[in-house]
Amino acid sequence: MYSRLSARALTSLLGGWRTSEPAYEALADAVRLLLLDNRIAPDTALPAERELAAALRLSRTTVSAAYRSLRESGHIESRRGSGSVTQPLGTPAAARTTVSDPGAIDLQQASPAAWPGLAGVMAEVAAGAATLIGRPGYDVVGAPALRQAIADRYTASGVPTDPAEVMVTNGAQSAIHLLASLLVRRGDRVLIESPTYPHAAEAFRQAGARLVGVPVTVDEGWDLDRAEQAFARVLPTAAYLMPDFQNPTARSMTRHERDVLADAAMRAHTTVIVDDTTAELDIDRPFRPGPFGGADTVRIGSLGKTVWGGMRLGWIRARADLIRRLTAARFAHELGTPEWEQALATALLPRMPEIVAQRAARLREGRDLAVAALGRLLPEWRVPEAHGGVSLWVELDAPLSGALVLAAREEGVLLSAGPRFSVDGGYERNLRLPFTGSTTELDRAIQALARVWPAVRTSAAPALMDRFDAVV
Ligand SMILES: Cc1ncc(COP(=O)(O)O)c(C=O)c1O
Repeated sequence: MYSRLSARALTSLLGGWRTSEPAYEALADAVRLLLLDNRIAPDTALPAERELAAALRLSRTTVSAAYRSLRESGHIESRRGSGSVTQPLGTPAAARTTVSDPGAIDLQQASPAAWPGLAGVMAEVAAGAATLIGRPGYDVVGAPALRQAIADRYTASGVPTDPAEVMVTNGAQSAIHLLASLLVRRGDRVLIESPTYPHAAEAFRQAGARLVGVPVTVDEGWDLDRAEQAFARVLPTAAYLMPDFQNPTARSMTRHERDVLADAAMRAHTTVIVDDTTAELDIDRPFRPGPFGGADTVRIGSLGKTVWGGMRLGWIRARADLIRRLTAARFAHELGTPEWEQALATALLPRMPEIVAQRAARLREGRDLAVAALGRLLPEWRVPEAHGGVSLWVELDAPLSGALVLAAREEGVLLSAGPRFSVDGGYERNLRLPFTGSTTELDRAIQALARVWPAVRTSAAPALMDRFDAVV
C-alpha cells in the first residue's frame, strides 16, 4: 500500500514551480526538490497525469514529459495499479539529487562542530564509567543532579524552577515530538511562526494538528496583528515559538513582542511551547529582553547547538503536573535518556559560560565571512542583520530558491530552499544560509552560489515572464 498525494495537495506543495524552461523539466525539478526535502515521502503515489494537468492548467503532454523525466532520473517508478510511485533517494538512478561526493558541502543542517573541550570532559566522565555501568543506564525523567542543574540555570535566567518541573529528553526534537503527541489531538489548531524550523512543523502535523502560520520577517519581526487575530479567532491548542534567534530568520522578539504574544496566548488558553534551542547562540545582540511568558510557558532546551548535536540531550521545563503526564506518556515512545549523556551534561552545564563564549566566537567568524562574501559576490541579494542564531535568511532578487538549490547541488553544495521552512507555501525568494560550519567551506559554498546564480536567473527569465503575463 502506498500513500496517495492528491493533485490539489501536490499543486499546493509545488507553489511557484515554474522557474525555468522547458516547463516539463521545471515541473520535474520541483518534484525532485520536494523529495529531497522529504516533503514528499518515498513510496508515495503521485496523482494521475490527467488530474495533475487539470490542477496545474497544463497540457497532459507536459505532465507526461515531467513524469518521464522523473522516471528516467529514478525518482519515480511506474507500478501497476498504483501509477507513479516515488522512490527512496539514494537509489543509483536518483544520484542527480543525492550528491554522495565526500567533498560535498552540506549546509542543509545548521549544526556547529563540537565544542573543542568536549573530548576532555568525556574523558573525565569516563573515569566514572565503572560506577555508571553498574546502574540501569537510562531513565525516563532525568537524573536528579542534572534536573537540579537545569532548574538552577532557569532560575538564574529569571524563570524560578524546581527540579520537579524539568524532564531530560533525547534532544529538543524528541521533546517537541513528545509534547505534540501529548497536547495535540487530530484537528486541533497549532499556531506556528512562518518561516519555522521544519521538523517542529512536521511533528505537529504528524500529531494531527492544523497549522496556523504567523509571519516573521527579518525586517519587521513578528506580525503581531495577525498573531493576535489568530489567537482570538481559532483559539489554538498550542503555539510553538522561538523568541530568541528564531530559526531560520535569526530574529529575536522585542520585550513588546514577547508581552503581546504571551497575553494573546493567555486569553486564548493556548499552551505556549517556547523552543530555546538557539537562544544561547548570541553573537552580539545589543539588548537582552528577558524570558518569554511566565510559569505556564512550556520551554524546550538542548545542548545540540551549544555543545554537540551528537550528544542528543535536551529537556522540557513545564509545570510539575505536565511533567508527570509527559513521563507517563513517554514510555510508548522510548524508555528514557542514556545516563552516559546525562553524566556528560551534568559535567558540562557548569562550563556553559565558557562554552557559549567559544560558540559566539565561531559563529561570529561564520556570520562575518558570509555577510562579506555575499556582499562582494552577490550584491543583488538582500542579506539581513543577524546578531546570533545559526543562519542568514537571505532574500534573492528573484523567486528561484528551488532552482538555485538544484543548481548548487551540481556544484556539490547542499542547501534547503526557502519553501522548506514555510508553513503554508511561499518563500521561493528566500534561502537559508547556515553560518555554523567552517569558514573555508562557507566561502567555497558562496563562491559556488555566485557561479550558478547568473545561469539560474537567465534560464528562468522566460518562465518568470510567463508567470507575470498570466497574472496580468
Ligand atoms: C529550533 C530547533 N529546535 C530543535 C532542534 C532539534 O534539536 P536537537 O538536536 O536537540 O534534537 C533544532 C535543530 O536544528 C532546532 O534548530
